[in-house]
Amino acid sequence: MSKPTYYITTPIYYSSGKLHIGHCYTTVICDAIARFKRMDGFDVFYLTGTDEHGQKVQQKAEAAGVTPKQYVDALHEQIVNLWNVLNISYDKFIRTTDEYHEKAVQKIYEKLLASGDIYKSSYEGWYCTPCESFWTESQLVDGKCPDCGREVKLQKEESYFFRLSKYQDRLIEFYEQNPDFISPKSRMNEMINNFIKPGLKDLCISRTTFDWGVKLPFDPKHVAYVWVDALANYITALGYLQEDHSLYDKFWPADLHMVGKEIVRFHTIIWPALLMALGLPMPKKVYGHGWVLFGSDKMSKSKGNVVDPVLLADRYGADVVRYYLLREIPFGSDGNYTNEALLVRTNADLVNDLGNLVSRTTAMVTQYFGGNIPRPNDYDDRDRELISLCEGALCKVRADMEALSAPDALSDIFKIIQRANKYIDETMPWALNKSGDKDRLATVMYVLCECIRFASTLLLPFVPATAQRIFAKLGLDVPTDFSGLARFGGIAEGTTVNKGDNLFNRIDVDKELKELDKLATEQTEEKEEQTEQITIEDFAKVKLVTAKVVDCQKVAKSDKLLALKLQVGDQVRQVVSGIAQYYTPEYLVGKTVVLVANLKPAKIRGVESNGMILCASDGKNVVFVTPEKETASGKEVR
Ligand code: MSP
Repeated sequence: MSKPTYYITTPIYYSSGKLHIGHCYTTVICDAIARFKRMDGFDVFYLTGTDEHGQKVQQKAEAAGVTPKQYVDALHEQIVNLWNVLNISYDKFIRTTDEYHEKAVQKIYEKLLASGDIYKSSYEGWYCTPCESFWTESQLVDGKCPDCGREVKLQKEESYFFRLSKYQDRLIEFYEQNPDFISPKSRMNEMINNFIKPGLKDLCISRTTFDWGVKLPFDPKHVAYVWVDALANYITALGYLQEDHSLYDKFWPADLHMVGKEIVRFHTIIWPALLMALGLPMPKKVYGHGWVLFGSDKMSKSKGNVVDPVLLADRYGADVVRYYLLREIPFGSDGNYTNEALLVRTNADLVNDLGNLVSRTTAMVTQYFGGNIPRPNDYDDRDRELISLCEGALCKVRADMEALSAPDALSDIFKIIQRANKYIDETMPWALNKSGDKDRLATVMYVLCECIRFASTLLLPFVPATAQRIFAKLGLDVPTDFSGLARFGGIAEGTTVNKGDNLFNRIDVDKELKELDKLATEQTEEKEEQTEQITIEDFAKVKLVTAKVVDCQKVAKSDKLLALKLQVGDQVRQVVSGIAQYYTPEYLVGKTVVLVANLKPAKIRGVESNGMILCASDGKNVVFVTPEKETASGKEVR
């Protein structure tokens, strides 16, 4: 009989910077789920990859003086390396620059055009380059991107649109019929109330302002919107619209798209609507997990507060990082990362509970039975308590994983480990040895070894390298499924243990915290040194001049924008600036400011803006830059 299939995906990762420990969260969780399902009898396909197109990549490549392809190749290598370090067992790694993907995306666009789901028009909106997202004025928060809080630009371009609005009712109907489609439940309400109810607008799905993307076959000056390109990976990776589509036939629809909460919108509105337009089945579930926070911040590479997972894995082992992410971050909500919590958690669970149980047991089997696991004699009530804990564990852990809760699964597995440690204290094998009660001592040793076998079989999906080491210590083959958990008593008499090194060494938390701080500072300094430098010629391209504000008005229908008339020598020019929340027009009139005079003119909210005034900001307040002494207008600033 063929196995049931299970298709699980991570988002494909932006190829535009170093990944931090927050990024590893999605991938590590999916890895634990994928490994669990494989052992639990499923034919699993675990997909991950890199999202390599878009304006941001193009800009970064330009700044680094390399081609976009060279740029993404280097980052792709880094990401693959990170997943190797963390022991991620993906079945396929897709790159959106893979030729088969690009061709399939083109075919998808052609199909959508043919079905009338795409039309040509022009688009004006606020664009956040880092998030590759267009926003309407009302969606902005304090004039900034509602997702990442960064600056947005008003952009207008001829574009192709996807008739997203057409799918509004079908989406609502689909959610109603599939109440578990979006999990956790709170995210479903968020999608309906914040996005669907206010009314879905057609989606701009092509760009002409840059060319690092999939060219539209019917209008090649347009490239595909990076989110359509990216979302399509979930089916192109399986061979959709390709000659060999056997994986697609076998695995689609996906059982689980695991994503961070900030991209649930793309996966539960745009993606299902695109699939509806293509006439394809819906994925079964999208789970929007919370963020690993650093202080109160999502550790975003662009905000600079990076905790390097490779450094942590090199120092403590991949399983320490995996265990922490899986156990400590409450699933579905946000959780805080601190070095201290990582180290304390490692000492408590991995060193004390697990490490001690394994080293005490293997040491005692070595000392009392020459390293050969003895045959048990009659079990007493205490033994039976442990036996039933072990025999009931798979069922509990399976239910936890069904609910996608790795913290609960680990907590249930650790119940065996903790109970077994207590059992050592209660049965006092050293006293049994002293009193010569070898029969009872044999039973106690056997029960302990079996407990370890049960716990480490269940730990394989979560901390695979550690669990494998434990099997080596017990002298057992590493199981590939859970069949050995059906019955307590699976270890054959005489199996030879090998105590070897400790699984984990106790961490001196205070000392390590200082060490980690030092390493972080060194990394930051290195990074600062690497900040991109420009030549004097680059700087000379920017024309800065003094200018006097001669008039200032609020821009109609905007609470952020002011239109300033600036005297620059004998000319007057108008500049729009987003400082209305910091200055009144009256205050500004008569002040001298510094103007970027050769900035390309732009229309902001329909108002012509010729240049930009310099301001300083600490993230909360904004102040304009002014010469230290009274200076005539139109003077060059050098
Ligand atoms: N490229 C898009 C996804 C396209 S999928 C069709 C993207 N990439 S990403 O690199 O920015 O993010 C990849 C994953 O990392 C997302 O699930 C995101 O939520 C996750 N995380 C990034 N920072 C995170 C934390 N601080 N905490 C938890 N997960 C976070 O989005």
